Amino acid sequence: MDDQEENITSVDAERSAQEAKLRVEELRAQIGFHDYRYFVLDDPEISDAEYDSFMRELRKLEKTHPQLITPDSPTQRVGGEPVEALGIVEHRLPMLSLGNAFSEDEFRAWYKRLTNEAEGFDIPLVCEPKMDGLAVALVFENGTFVQGATRGDGRRGENITQNLRTIRSIPLSISKPTPERFEVRGEVYMTKKGFERLNQARAEQELPLFASPRNSAAGSLRQLDSTVTASRPLDIFVYQLGWADGEAPSTHWDLLNWLAELGFRVNPLIERFTDVEEVIEHIKNWEGRRDSLDYEIDGLVIKVDEIDLQRSLGFVGREPRWAIAYKYPPTQATTILRNIEINVGRTGSLNPFAVLEPVVVAHATVKLATLHNEDDIRRKDLRIGDTVIVQRAGDVIPQVVGPVVSKRTGDERVFEMPERCPVCDTPVVRPDGEAMTYCPNQVCPAQIFRLLTHFAARGAMDIDGLGESLADQLLKSGLINDLADVYSLTTDDLMALERLGEKSAANIVAGISASKNRPLGRLLFGLGIRHVGDETADLLAGHFGSIEALANATIEELEAVATIGPKIAASVFEYFQDEANLEIIARFRQAGVRLEGEKAAREGVLQGLSFVVTGSMSGWSRNEAESSIKGLGGAVGSSVTRKTNYLIVGENPGSKLAKAQELGVEILDEKSFARLVNQEPT
Ligand code: IVH
Repeated sequence: MDDQEENITSVDAERSAQEAKLRVEELRAQIGFHDYRYFVLDDPEISDAEYDSFMRELRKLEKTHPQLITPDSPTQRVGGEPVEALGIVEHRLPMLSLGNAFSEDEFRAWYKRLTNEAEGFDIPLVCEPKMDGLAVALVFENGTFVQGATRGDGRRGENITQNLRTIRSIPLSISKPTPERFEVRGEVYMTKKGFERLNQARAEQELPLFASPRNSAAGSLRQLDSTVTASRPLDIFVYQLGWADGEAPSTHWDLLNWLAELGFRVNPLIERFTDVEEVIEHIKNWEGRRDSLDYEIDGLVIKVDEIDLQRSLGFVGREPRWAIAYKYPPTQATTILRNIEINVGRTGSLNPFAVLEPVVVAHATVKLATLHNEDDIRRKDLRIGDTVIVQRAGDVIPQVVGPVVSKRTGDERVFEMPERCPVCDTPVVRPDGEAMTYCPNQVCPAQIFRLLTHFAARGAMDIDGLGESLADQLLKSGLINDLADVYSLTTDDLMALERLGEKSAANIVAGISASKNRPLGRLLFGLGIRHVGDETADLLAGHFGSIEALANATIEELEAVATIGPKIAASVFEYFQDEANLEIIARFRQAGVRLEGEKAAREGVLQGLSFVVTGSMSGWSRNEAESSIKGLGGAVGSSVTRKTNYLIVGENPGSKLAKAQELGVEILDEKSFARLVNQEPT
């Protein structure tokens, strides 16, 4: 090679290194932006394949130009070498804890102390969910994430930078102007779904299970090998600025919005109030709704908005005066599992339930809890006599989370499913591939009782006055032996029963008569066909238009209906093969029960659109509104995101309305909603 040639090659090499550097920077910016869209906004702009191709190109360039690799490269989120031990980090400003309020009075007392200091003026407050996770502090230098630590004892925490880098919603570098150095604080947590999946996978591998999403988030963050952290479904919400060398907003509200603009994940449920009564409303409102979130919160944090006022209020001990945690009562408690008993359901399913030593959980005494099925009992390894953790979530029936194994004495008994129906003594069956055991006797008194009360219940034929006690009397007296008998009851029949006067008897007969005209979907639901819930029933009614068409449908025709799988199709098909069922339907027809519906010609018109329903409507229950949407092919979500197309708003809509307004989501009132689904409210 002569001199000139050598020169050209080194110039080329230099140019290609220059070009590589530029491209690497461009790719990192692109990937950073798409991570933000995907992991922070939950609103990706490009396909996974496009994203992967950026990552591949970046990896390739970094491989040929290793000098370009920096710790803030997205390729470095996972991959650092395992460490011997987590180092210690001194927090520049201590990470404090919060004072608690356990009642409205305690909260009012806190606020009163503030207003006294502010000479009686109202003080704007910001409310945030109190995440049940692990507090972390993230330090940024010239826009790059350089250090992350746990809270530790408040003054010194553990260095978990490498582990935090694996959380994709933490920006590794920020493209907007930032203070030269600053620290953001937030809570790392695991979603309830992520936690369940993780524990399920661990159970399959026979690894010890985590006790709670919080425990598993903590365990995942303190790993020495960050590839383990990377495999865990962790996320973060940031809620505070620790400190900043440079300008920052002067209210907490603006600060959170500024952090969101910089690319941090800020909880969308934050709200700002100027009236303390609204704060109290908000606190009460969230107590019942906290279970609807996909992460655990143990309360709300209420903070003074003005940062100057925060400063002047200062601290008492290790707690700020300017913030308080309103704690909701725990939804879990421990008690003794006295026995496991069986209830026979309307489809003949043997439903095990827990008989517990009574215990108060979130304001209510719990004595019984559902146990789902035999497999569930085995999976949780519940034994009679165990000390167990029970959980109440909203209005849902209490659940047994699991045993406290360390409290076992050895006297506990393993539960065996009975071999015969506890009500009619028929040998039970467990169909292949099903978790449930059934009593196959269709005239088992327990089945008929449950079927009758289900048939008459609100979401089905809605027969006023026909509740459990009347159903029991009707069956015992022999006035009713199957569902069709309901329609031959007379006032005289009913008056012959104990405790029923003429007026109530006449009312019940009127209620029975009114039920003849219920929409076909309600009747189908009321029949109690295995696996056919209210939504499926509506779907089948809309698709087939009459009970006759449905009864004549083949398995293939049933499976051709959107969202109907083989299990439901087989169950519906079998139901209509049974002569006894066909006879009941024939008797319904004779009695004048409506067996035709409106065929959903508009099926699918809301395909591809997503809805969220909030507040209460006068003509629809939440469930009814949601099934109308789903029946027309629309999707229903539980929280408003950028992907929501419409928010349907009833009375007292709550925070979803503000969120929709903020995101520019189209808002429909009840009337417009009625027009959209093209039917008047019932
Ligand atoms: S502010 C001085 N905001 O609660 C203010 N904390 O009991 C300090 N937490 O260690 C914290 N969600 O782990 C704040 N929105 C939120 C929070 C929150 C959860 C945790 C955090 C803190 C603990 C204090």
